[in-house]
Amino acid sequence: MTTINKNTTRRRFGALRKWLPASAIALSGMFAGTLAHAANANADAALVKRGEYLARAADCIACHTSNKAQPYAGGVPFDLPFGTIYSTNITPDKTYGIGNLSDADFIGAVREGKSKDGKRLYPAMPYTSYTQLTDDDILAIRAYLRTIAPVGKAAPANTLGFPFNQRWAMVFWNLFNFDSGRFQSDPSKSAEWNRGAYLVGALAHCQECHTPRNFMQGLSGKSLAGAQLGNWSAYNITPDPIAGIGGWSDAELIAYLRDGAAPGVANAAGPMAEVVENSTRFLSDQDLKSMVTYLRTVPAQTHGADGSTKSRFGWGSSIESVTALRNQPLTVLGAGGAADGRTLFNANCASCHGWQGTGVGGKDSGAYPSLMHNTSVGASNADNLTMVVLHGVSRQTNNGHMSMPAFAGELSDSEVATLVNFVTTQFGNPSATITADKVAKMR
Ligand code: HEC
Ligand code: HEC
Ligand code: HEC
Repeated sequence: MTTINKNTTRRRFGALRKWLPASAIALSGMFAGTLAHAANANADAALVKRGEYLARAADCIACHTSNKAQPYAGGVPFDLPFGTIYSTNITPDKTYGIGNLSDADFIGAVREGKSKDGKRLYPAMPYTSYTQLTDDDILAIRAYLRTIAPVGKAAPANTLGFPFNQRWAMVFWNLFNFDSGRFQSDPSKSAEWNRGAYLVGALAHCQECHTPRNFMQGLSGKSLAGAQLGNWSAYNITPDPIAGIGGWSDAELIAYLRDGAAPGVANAAGPMAEVVENSTRFLSDQDLKSMVTYLRTVPAQTHGADGSTKSRFGWGSSIESVTALRNQPLTVLGAGGAADGRTLFNANCASCHGWQGTGVGGKDSGAYPSLMHNTSVGASNADNLTMVVLHGVSRQTNNGHMSMPAFAGELSDSEVATLVNFVTTQFGNPSATITADKVAKMR
């Protein structure tokens, strides 16, 4: 695409003026107007395109879209320990959306967590991370949002318990948990590292899910050390080789962020599948590489290792499991006639993941993954594995749609528990277990 710089255009026509007759000057003025208009249109298109890329990197859509047919119309519920709040409509609608926000209002909302009327936004809106964004990037996102179809619909009202229904309480929350300030690049580091730091910390707000929170729901100092998100574990992604991602290669991290699959290491399900689907799969290879460069340098944290001596993907050996499987009858009924783990596995999982759990399709990113050397099966808790069994996997990638069926409707709580405990013992970390009671809560 060619963009014509408005100033250059004006200068060029200024020079022409010196020798053209008056009538031609008038004509050239009109012509210049048209060209300047075209230049503006090109510049606008480039700005909108950049805004779209940034909005994806910042994953605005994930939290502001409850109905895919009405992108950015808000209404996504956030269940917090003290109640439920709903995201707002950020389409250009003038009544229910943000059509009436000035650029300054918009910047204030995104970067400072302040609404137009001075109210504090709840930090479910990650202004704690976005505060680092530059004016240019926020205004590019705004330019893109202006091109979205307006939706004339209000988000449902929040249901928060006292004192959190008092927005003034947020002022105090902010005193403890919010540092307003722009991203400062570190001149002692490479441009790639700085870009990665900006992407991870400001735009993609990885820490909002991966950093443990304090009792006030603020981010703790253990950046990216892993956190519980409802029923999901957002694992430690610091460079620690056991607790974190120190054992992953750069190529594996890039493949995971781009496709949601790093065969032999991990697959992205649940909230991370959404991050890949809405956000990281759209990032350029250079941006993904920059993020990895930065992630390699954050302080390593041992949080979440729980005394384990192997990394999450270090568990599982096909030899061991084949030996263990040998001499075992394939259909056994346990006490009370309940199916045992192996039977449940053969009946429900083996068709895709293989009866030895080795998966189908090997290192192909579209493969049915091996259950050995998979972080959900090798983690020190069985939460993510249980969520995957209950709710399945759904992830749009650049090469197609990955999906695993949900078993919540097929298996009882105790069957899920039996199956999950079999899978972790057989293919992963045997200390990770789940009870039927906990499965009931995770449904
Ligand atoms: C993790 C979830 C999440 C993400 C990501 C997110 N938002 Fe929000 N946003 C919310 C929630 C929840 C609210 C409502 C907060 C409240 O009511 O206090 C909100 C409120 C807002 C508001 C205030 C609207 C108003 O009327 O005052 C704006 C503007 C906004 N978001 C823009 C954005 C933009 C732009 C992005 C991407 C750069 C984004 N949000 C990403 C959750 C999110
Ligand atoms: C909305 C919450 C959320 C956000 C935002 C998020 N993650 Fe995650 N992430 C998760 C969850 C949950 C998992 C576990 C997924 C699973 O087990 O399938 C995960 C898993 C991962 C893993 C795999 C770890 C392992 O051992 O399997 C990596 C790497 C990762 N995230 C990196 C990132 C990066 C980089 C960002 C920012 C671009 C990010 N995440 C943003 C929730 C999130
Ligand atoms: C119809 C085929 C199919 C069946 C049946 C199936 N899966 Fe999957 N499974 C998949 C696909 C596809 C994926 C996603 C691969 C990806 O993420 O790229 C997957 C992913 C997984 C993952 C990785 C998730 C993560 O977050 O790392 C685990 C663990 C898993 N399945 C376990 C099971 C178990 C246990 C059963 C039996 C209850 C089962 N699967 C049944 C196809 C299947």
